[in-house]
Amino acid sequence: MLAFETSCDETSAAVVSAGVVLSNVVASQTRLHAPYGGVVPELATREHLRNLLPVARQALRDAGLTAADLDAVAATQGPGLPGALLIGLKAAQALAFSLGKPFLGIHHHEAHLYSPFISAGPPPAGFAQFQPSVSLIVSGGHTLLVQVKGEFQHRVLGSTVDDAAGECFDKVGKLLGLAYPAGPEMDRLAAQGNPRALPFPRPMLHDPGDDFSFSGLKTSVRHFLEKNPAWPDDPARLRDLCASVQAAIVDVLVAKTIRAALRLGAPCVTVSGGVACNSALRRQLTQACQREGLKLRLAEKKYATDNAAMIGILAERKLLAGLPPASLDAEIQPSWAL
Ligand code: KG4
Ligand code: ZN
Repeated sequence: MLAFETSCDETSAAVVSAGVVLSNVVASQTRLHAPYGGVVPELATREHLRNLLPVARQALRDAGLTAADLDAVAATQGPGLPGALLIGLKAAQALAFSLGKPFLGIHHHEAHLYSPFISAGPPPAGFAQFQPSVSLIVSGGHTLLVQVKGEFQHRVLGSTVDDAAGECFDKVGKLLGLAYPAGPEMDRLAAQGNPRALPFPRPMLHDPGDDFSFSGLKTSVRHFLEKNPAWPDDPARLRDLCASVQAAIVDVLVAKTIRAALRLGAPCVTVSGGVACNSALRRQLTQACQREGLKLRLAEKKYATDNAAMIGILAERKLLAGLPPASLDAEIQPSWAL
């Protein structure tokens, strides 16, 4: 299976065989978008167009294969940026057509459900052992809590009503003058700061539902900085501020994920998406799951962020389960709900 992922700002191609990732090439566009403080859709589309075929050739080379060896081709069909999705989807359909092989259009978030299992050998066993579970998908574009009952059986429990958690890291970082995307730098600075220095709100922590909200937290940081404009100039205070904001985000993510798992009687928790790289989130989830007797599976960092390996793994599972391939005319689904 050759798979493409081009839903946002990573051009990725991977080759997967029998649940094992033979290659996974990712060309990140982060540097291209950094001067704009966020992903510029038109620039992303053009960059995917430039990079997709070189990345695909590299993925085949790394796997020691040629296109003639492929049994099927897959791509992310949605959700994502329309222009970005089009590049990967249409290239995959064209390749499948030219090879006379099936094409599979994959839901980006359903694929994220598999990313915590990728490094643990063939996923079917690992994935099956972890059902039923509650899965947190947390990135710059999405914050989703999903109940996974079994393979291809899942239900969205909640999502963000405004900003995604990664977006909150990035926007607060921008207020602090940090480069985009600010999540990793906030994480680094927070490691030496005091998370209890500033009492930022924990939005929707006590709301009984499974939804999240992060834009109010960003607004409180903005108000705090309006009153204390020189605060970030002092390195120790900057670290405390980062640690306090990070603690507010992580407390909410951890508490709501654990609460959903306990309420639903799901013995397992899994986490993926770019924010799954956050060290405080990884640490607090590990502690909370140990305390509550839950099994935890955190995506390895290279599979937590967007990658084609997770697309290929899911596409192969679908093909092997006998689900029908998609049409070679299937269109992108930019707002596809899980
Ligand atoms: O999954 P991803 O690569 O792309 C999408 O957003 O789809 O996630 C990128 C997001 C950015 O918002 C970035 O700031 C955040 O993940 N991120 C982190 C960390 N590493 C990446 N946020 C907090 N701590 C990190 N260590
Ligand atoms: Zn993603």
